[in-house]
Amino acid sequence: MSIQSNISLKQFNTFNIDVSAKHFAAFNSIDQLEELLHDPLLSDNPTMVLGGGSNILFTKNVEAVVLKNEITGIEKISEDENYYYIKAGAGESWHHFVMHCLQNGYAGIENLALIPGNVGASPMQNIGAYGVEIKDVFHSLEAIHLNDKQKKIFNMDECAFGYRESAFKNRYQNEFVITAVTYRLLKKPSYNISYGVIEQELEKMKVTELSCMSIAKAVMNIRNSKLPNPAVIGNAGSFFKNPVIAASSFDHLQEQFPSIVGHFLENGEYKLAAGWLIEQCGWKGYRKGDAGCHEKQALVLVNFGNASGEEIYQLSELIITSVFNKFGVLLQREVNIC
Ligand code: EPU
Repeated sequence: MSIQSNISLKQFNTFNIDVSAKHFAAFNSIDQLEELLHDPLLSDNPTMVLGGGSNILFTKNVEAVVLKNEITGIEKISEDENYYYIKAGAGESWHHFVMHCLQNGYAGIENLALIPGNVGASPMQNIGAYGVEIKDVFHSLEAIHLNDKQKKIFNMDECAFGYRESAFKNRYQNEFVITAVTYRLLKKPSYNISYGVIEQELEKMKVTELSCMSIAKAVMNIRNSKLPNPAVIGNAGSFFKNPVIAASSFDHLQEQFPSIVGHFLENGEYKLAAGWLIEQCGWKGYRKGDAGCHEKQALVLVNFGNASGEEIYQLSELIITSVFNKFGVLLQREVNIC
């Protein structure tokens, strides 16, 4: 296993941005990772750990040693009356993991089918869709500290999960390599079809008896109908977070914009649909060069071919400014800018 130099990262990020890494190495076991962590190049250069590259926008060449996590494997490590405890390697494809769980009767992540990226990113981003987030099924994760090379196990509280947030995006940023994640999955399914679109899709599919597989299929149909497939058009899913605002601000906005889309939260605040805000500013379907805003989901920025990361970043700046000018709401990026 060797560290290579000047490697294009185009095939390693779902935006398909063509930047290069000063140094690059992939590892598929903890032993390989430990060997890499002792390489002198790592003492002389910053380190960047890359998973599926599905939530990152590269805006320049990466002057670091990029370590690509390819640790795979899925294992049932224990079970109790209600749960299976399933451990997966951080480099395992997330969707492959979901399919494995469905086939083996491990319930709880059927709503998270078809999310691009790897297992390791699931706690990092607290990935979520259609009413389910990783924090609902998370048990623990294993990680190795980049400097002291010690193994550490993190439980739920230590991960400090929030909306598309965790300690690994904040206080522990660039400190750890997540090597495996253990999920606590249900023996007896508890279906979550609270999202109206899922119910509508199940009706369309003429499903009379719910199952984890039918929900996963409904979710896949919905995603395929409006989210661009990164294998065809470069993208990183939602580029921005849905902004959360106070109830009083929501009431004020609703007076001015009666059709505004907002979702009441348990804590009394409102989560606005950023896609709606962006669409109202006229960006949906916008294209300049190869950088654009998706025609079916305005929250998703796309690379039609050869856009640079900087062009996509500049587009995101224009969108943030126009949404702020029209609604007084400041969008935050969900995608990591590098
Ligand atoms: N909408 C528009 N125009 C658009 C897009 C959306 O008006 O162009 C409005 C619609 O009224 C729609 C509402 O926004 O009813 C919500 O849209 P959607 O159901 O597509 O979900 P979202 O809020 O835009 C979030 C997540 C997605 C996740 C879906 C489904 C974030 C940042 N995004 O999107 O996650 O799949 O809900 O649960 O929270 C991701 O994180 O990369 C991602 C794709």
